[in-house]
Amino acid sequence: MRIFLHILAISPALWLMWQGGLLYDFQDNMLTANPIKYIHHYTGEWAIRFLLLGLAITPLRQIIKWPNIIKYRRMIGLYAFFYVVLHLLNFVVLDYYFDWATILKEIIKRPAITFGMAAAVLLLPLALTSTKGWIRRLGKKWRRLHRVIYVIAPLAVIHNFMMVKADLFVPFIHLTILILLLGYRLAPKLGFSYTRG
Ligand code: HEM
Repeated sequence: MRIFLHILAISPALWLMWQGGLLYDFQDNMLTANPIKYIHHYTGEWAIRFLLLGLAITPLRQIIKWPNIIKYRRMIGLYAFFYVVLHLLNFVVLDYYFDWATILKEIIKRPAITFGMAAAVLLLPLALTSTKGWIRRLGKKWRRLHRVIYVIAPLAVIHNFMMVKADLFVPFIHLTILILLLGYRLAPKLGFSYTRG
């Protein structure tokens, strides 16, 4: 099962490499006339999907009564981080070619980039502390630290809204899923009760 999930999760990245001719260079460029924009879009979309999927594990576990699903949450979170890293690399390497001064200016001056960067920076400690050793070492603090995901996901959705200029349909889908996932956790605290496993 784990291997199957790894193959599923890595396949969007492999497909991107294939499209870019990095795996087998026989086809024409499939990354459209603006490859950088295409890669931004592609990696950003997959990053946000994995972030939301990671948040969906707890409700899914309780709703479909599949307690073991929890053991895949860490893996899903790490794939979210992986796609964020690809997204960020595209920005730093292909878009701005390590022009750190301009990159810094963009992060400070464009609120959309500020939100994205904040989400990426906050995700880093979660990825670094996702090993069994860190979970043991941090004990209760680990759970507290990983609640930062409730800040990261809204930051990512705001970033998504601000980045997409024309069709807001997909960002709205992401927002709706986020509201449902956060609402599910908030509901018991507001007095609504359902059986939680
Ligand atoms: C958790 C972190 C992040 C997530 C989940 C995320 C996700 C997204 C998504 C979903 C889009 C919209 C893609 C589209 O439909 O066109 C996007 C666009 C974009 N993101 Fe991010 N992002 C994150 C962090 C960052 C960071 C750190 C940077 C750069 C410092 C960045 C730079 C961009 C740029 C430049 C675009 C616009 C692409 C274009 O239309 O040309 N993002 N991101």
